[in-house]
Amino acid sequence: MKPFTAIFHTTLVLFILCLGVYCDGDGDTEMAPMVAPMEKTEQEALYSTIQGFVGTWWNGSDLYPDPCGWTPIQGVSCDLYDGFWYVTALNIGPVQDNSLDCAHNVEFKLHLFELKHLKTLSFLNCFISPRKHPVTIPANIWYKLAGSLESLEFRSNPGLVGQVPTGFGDLRKLQSLVLLENGLSGNLPTIIGNLVSLRRLVIAGNRFTGHIPDNFGGLGELLILDLSRNSLSGPLPTSFGGLSSLLKLDLSNNQLEGDLPSELGNMKNLTLLDLRNNKFSGGLTQSLQEMASLEDMALSNNPIGGDLLSLEWQNLQNLVILDLSNTGLTGEVPESLAELKGLRFLGLNDNNLTGNPSPKLAALPSVTALYLNGNNLTGELKFSGWFYGKMERRFGAWNNPNLCYPVELMSSSHVPFGVKPCDQEVTYLEPDTRTKLGNENGNADQNFHFMASLGFSSHAIDGLWWVFLAEISTMILLWNFFS
Ligand SMILES: *[C@@H]1O[C@H](CO)[C@@H](O)[C@H](O)[C@H]1NC(C)=O
Ligand SMILES: *[C@@H]1O[C@H](CO)[C@@H](O)[C@H](O)[C@H]1NC(C)=O
Ligand SMILES: *[C@@H]1O[C@H](CO)[C@@H](O)[C@H](O)[C@H]1NC(C)=O
Ligand SMILES: *[C@@H]1O[C@H](CO)[C@@H](O)[C@H](O)[C@H]1NC(C)=O
Repeated sequence: MKPFTAIFHTTLVLFILCLGVYCDGDGDTEMAPMVAPMEKTEQEALYSTIQGFVGTWWNGSDLYPDPCGWTPIQGVSCDLYDGFWYVTALNIGPVQDNSLDCAHNVEFKLHLFELKHLKTLSFLNCFISPRKHPVTIPANIWYKLAGSLESLEFRSNPGLVGQVPTGFGDLRKLQSLVLLENGLSGNLPTIIGNLVSLRRLVIAGNRFTGHIPDNFGGLGELLILDLSRNSLSGPLPTSFGGLSSLLKLDLSNNQLEGDLPSELGNMKNLTLLDLRNNKFSGGLTQSLQEMASLEDMALSNNPIGGDLLSLEWQNLQNLVILDLSNTGLTGEVPESLAELKGLRFLGLNDNNLTGNPSPKLAALPSVTALYLNGNNLTGELKFSGWFYGKMERRFGAWNNPNLCYPVELMSSSHVPFGVKPCDQEVTYLEPDTRTKLGNENGNADQNFHFMASLGFSSHAIDGLWWVFLAEISTMILLWNFFS
């Protein structure tokens, strides 16, 4: 039964009783504590707190005389402790149409810290003007909520500036700390590493600088760690091996550097590893292959270097997204990648990969995007025309100057975009000239490459192209002959 209905029934019963028997005295004073069994101090603290955020026009005692009962306030939840209502959740900001929107001159009233049983506190889009009205988080008072607060969130508050107060370190019951897309800056406070009950720590999209504190690795209960989109620098602490429960690790878009620590392999339950757009180097650590739950590995845009052959990719059977583009990779594309049956996205573009890509890659059953462009792959691309037709531009092999596709495909309508046909046709077109010229092999081939790199893409394949090709080849061969 909802509190409202309960109270309504109680009131109704009392009313009927009053009608039926002799009712004496002042009903109001008798009934007030039953209708709104809320301590005066708690009620006043709630009104004052909200007024600080939404503006002085807001008169709580007028508008919401019974905030936990029959006049509920949007964004406020209550619970009964020893027969009295207490506020357990306070959500400020435009979540719903009738939510509490923040005023321009928003301020933290210290009454907030008098709410004895507050478990959840969140601010969405509340502090919005960093120039006109910057607001800092109050310091040295959070200990008052230490016994109750489990979830603290500040989302999309560009006007919330300054540092994270060390007072957050007192919130020993905190399970979720979300500081997402605010104007906060400074170092990540080491004290957060003491919040050992944390299961979610999101400090993304602010302006934090400095190193990731070593003791974050002691947050053994953590399931989600997101420090993305700041300006964090320095190495990934080896202590991160202690985050063995972690499901999601997002450190993308920072300036982190150094090796990927082998301790990452301890994160056996990790499903997301996003380290994109940093400065990590030192090669792909072999222990990555121990992250058997991994579904999404995104390491693109890091000077990682090394090769792909050192990992047994077939161990990562849950991989769905593998993005290793622009990571300075060298060496060949291993066939073991073709054993990742669930893989949908494979990005190996813009590296220095060499060798001939195995046609087994085209047999990846779930693949919807496969990028090999911008490498130094060589030889004949032996994927099927059906595959090129299915993938269209979601298969990328362009910008591999020494890669070509078999001539037989030229008659089909599906050829890999930006890849030239192989050059056997020169021999085929000009067998006589060639033999006459006394087996000057090599030259003709090189010239063909030159032509292809002028931009004769697969789109130019028609009768005219053949004629043109024959003419140019003859010209080049003659030119070679006379020079
Ligand atoms: C709210 O209104 C009541 C009268 O309706 C008044 O007594 C009280 O002072 C007001 N409170 C605030 C905080 O303005
Ligand atoms: C990993 O997940 C499994 C299954 O959900 C769970 O039983 C196990 O405790 C988790 N491991 C860690 C280190 O949290
Ligand atoms: C590939 O290697 C060449 C020569 O070793 C180097 O100049 C180039 O920058 C490398 N390209 C990439 C994308 O790493
Ligand atoms: C591409 O590979 C060839 C050998 O296969 C090598 O000679 C050439 O320097 C490489 N190009 C780049 C840009 O690394």
